Amino acid sequence: MFPNLLSCLFGISMVAFKNQQIVPDLIDTVPKDLIQIKYPSGVSVQLGNELTPTQVKDEPTVYWPTEVGALYTLAMIDVDAPSRANHTWRGVKHWLAVNTPHTNTKFAYTLADYMGSGPPKGSGLHRYVFLAYKQAHRIGGMDPDNDNRLNFDINAFAKQYDLGQPIAGNFFVAQWDQSVED
Ligand SMILES: *[C@@H]1O[C@H](CO)[C@@H](O)[C@H](O)[C@H]1NC(C)=O
Repeated sequence: MFPNLLSCLFGISMVAFKNQQIVPDLIDTVPKDLIQIKYPSGVSVQLGNELTPTQVKDEPTVYWPTEVGALYTLAMIDVDAPSRANHTWRGVKHWLAVNTPHTNTKFAYTLADYMGSGPPKGSGLHRYVFLAYKQAHRIGGMDPDNDNRLNFDINAFAKQYDLGQPIAGNFFVAQWDQSVED
């Protein structure tokens, strides 16, 4: 018997999420589906590939498998702030959008605008994780906040808004280069 292609892909992301310790550093279970993420610079996110701050400076387009009529939350988190060894600021909220219909973030309610990677000099590779959650209901009563990005707890947020476990994910790594200063 040939292995089912989907379970094969799931196996690959399972290995990547665990090898890079996204599970358990950020989430408890590996999401079943991948989020496809493409940047205007031409690069895409591939389960832990290294991208430069310049390549990920502008908001990407994202896609994940959805159900018609459902609403989704999308988050991007830096797990390694200020570094992988020091979690004082874990996690940093780089992007947070709720009530996203049909996987199109253009129509989402954005609570934190997309912010590219700007890891501090000498802090090594940071893991930037994208997570998509299927919402149980529409989320309301919150104002956008682009100022307080440190120590964002995606698990507390998911619990507060009944998001359950993430249904899709992906991640890349990035480190400081001169462009961060510029
Ligand atoms: C961890 O990072 C914080 C923030 O930069 C810093 O204040 C603290 O001294 C660091 N801790 C260690 C053990 O390096």
